Amino acid sequence: MTNPIQIAIDGPAAAGKSTIAKIVAEQLGYIYIDTGAMYRAITLKAINEGINMASNEEAGELLLRTQIDLEPSDNGQLVFMDGEEVTEAIRTQQVTKAVSEMSAHALVRERMVELQRQLAESRGVVMDGRDIGTDVLPNAALKVFMSATVEERAQRRFADNQVRGINTPLAELQEEIAARDKMDSEREVSPLKQAEDAIYIDTTDLTIQEAAQKILTLAQERMA
Ligand code: DC
Repeated sequence: MTNPIQIAIDGPAAAGKSTIAKIVAEQLGYIYIDTGAMYRAITLKAINEGINMASNEEAGELLLRTQIDLEPSDNGQLVFMDGEEVTEAIRTQQVTKAVSEMSAHALVRERMVELQRQLAESRGVVMDGRDIGTDVLPNAALKVFMSATVEERAQRRFADNQVRGINTPLAELQEEIAARDKMDSEREVSPLKQAEDAIYIDTTDLTIQEAAQKILTLAQERMA
């Protein structure tokens, strides 16, 4: 029996991180933690409560009185905010457009990172996000930085949305993804960037299974 390891998967919006991370976690019997879902949940609450999202203090205070839980289920990971299931509600365009602003605040990040480290403590975990390899789990045994062209990522999000009954035009998705890339990479606190010891995987021409297999092979090597 090999010792469980921590696997950090970072990359820009819609690069396929969560789909691939879920497969990897399932194959290894590890838990999967979608940190983007956590930032989305606090953003949804800020919208619902009319919080001033430009304020670090207000945003940080909001997180102090919010309970965010992730629970695995047969239909994928469920997200709960203060006990209410918000798995679908956090995927709307309104939340997507606001989440980069919320997640840029130092207080929000500090508290979220603490929570994420607790969730990952002493267990096999696959965690995806923007700062997992650089900040949340700097000692992760395997770090992957995953990306694809912005056109390909917009196409994938478009196809995903069709299944969900969301009809945002492709051009708008491409613009939104490019805008989020920019905000997430240029923010002062823990910007999106590849960790020095992360392995880069370009998923533009890979199927989901191929990308997952690459990570599984790397994970087996690290566990050996
Ligand atoms: O992975 P996602 O698209 O669901 O993430 C939503 C937003 O949350 C993303 O635009 C930036 C932010 N985020 C972050 O700042 N740090 C993380 N570890 C994960 C997400």
